Amino acid sequence: MSVTVARTAGFCFGVQRAYDLAMELVRSGRPACTYGELIHNPQIVAKLYKAGIPAIERVEDNIDRRAVIIRSHGVPPSVYHALAEMGCEVVDATCPYVQKIHKLAAAYAKDSIILIAGDPSHPEVQGIEGFCERHLTFKNADELKSLYPFLEKNRNKAFVLLSQTTFSVSEWEKSVEKLKKVCTNLRIFDTICIATERRQREAGKLAAENDAMVVVGGRRSSNTVKLAQICGEFCETFLVESAKELYDCDFNGHTRVGVTAGASTPAWIIKEVHKTMSEILRDQDELSFEEMLNQS
Ligand code: F3S
Repeated sequence: MSVTVARTAGFCFGVQRAYDLAMELVRSGRPACTYGELIHNPQIVAKLYKAGIPAIERVEDNIDRRAVIIRSHGVPPSVYHALAEMGCEVVDATCPYVQKIHKLAAAYAKDSIILIAGDPSHPEVQGIEGFCERHLTFKNADELKSLYPFLEKNRNKAFVLLSQTTFSVSEWEKSVEKLKKVCTNLRIFDTICIATERRQREAGKLAAENDAMVVVGGRRSSNTVKLAQICGEFCETFLVESAKELYDCDFNGHTRVGVTAGASTPAWIIKEVHKTMSEILRDQDELSFEEMLNQS
């Protein structure tokens, strides 16, 4: 019976930075809000709300002109402009890795068509799109196929390929291979963040070594959902937002369970999951021992 927690589980550098900036504002007592959810973790969003920092969806929702914390996923330039026009103080918690993508998109906006490997419904991708003049976004290597007719027709034009920071490493490798064949004038920037890459590789390895995996994180967190997909390729995988959800999962027959967590999952939730998971496995073990005794 074992529960193994991934070394890469939990807050990444960008999320920690965003959280620290928000907590600094809480301590200062200045009225503030976040633009969108600071990070995709319901417990942290609720904690900030309780501390007097709500999340707003639109710039015009900031009726009392609070200081605005820009979420770690970043925003398009139009949001910065609108906030400046309103005269709001901006605390920029955009992850520096995302800012690097914004700079690349802006630098090539004039003379290139930007190809973005990412989920168009995710705020990070919507932010990046805002820095492009012409762009095409695709979710995975399969979806890229639908862009072939356009790419072939424009094969001599300049293209730049970028990725969402949490894009799947294997989908990226497949997409690069395909695009190299279709576009003759293509600049490639691998902008998957190193924290994501390490986390995904470790999750896959752990899933291959265990009977089941528990992935802890928000269901709206892109990197958490990707971790669950990766683990699901190797063994039965449960995505939970909190320890109490573990009681709804069926771990019967599983004796070795791996635990990993998305980049926006705080350490205290991972600790709780580890503790509860160990208890569930121990109870299961005792139960099967008792059953064995009753049969003999
Ligand atoms: Fe930044 Fe990578 Fe985290 S992009 S927010 S360090 S997952």
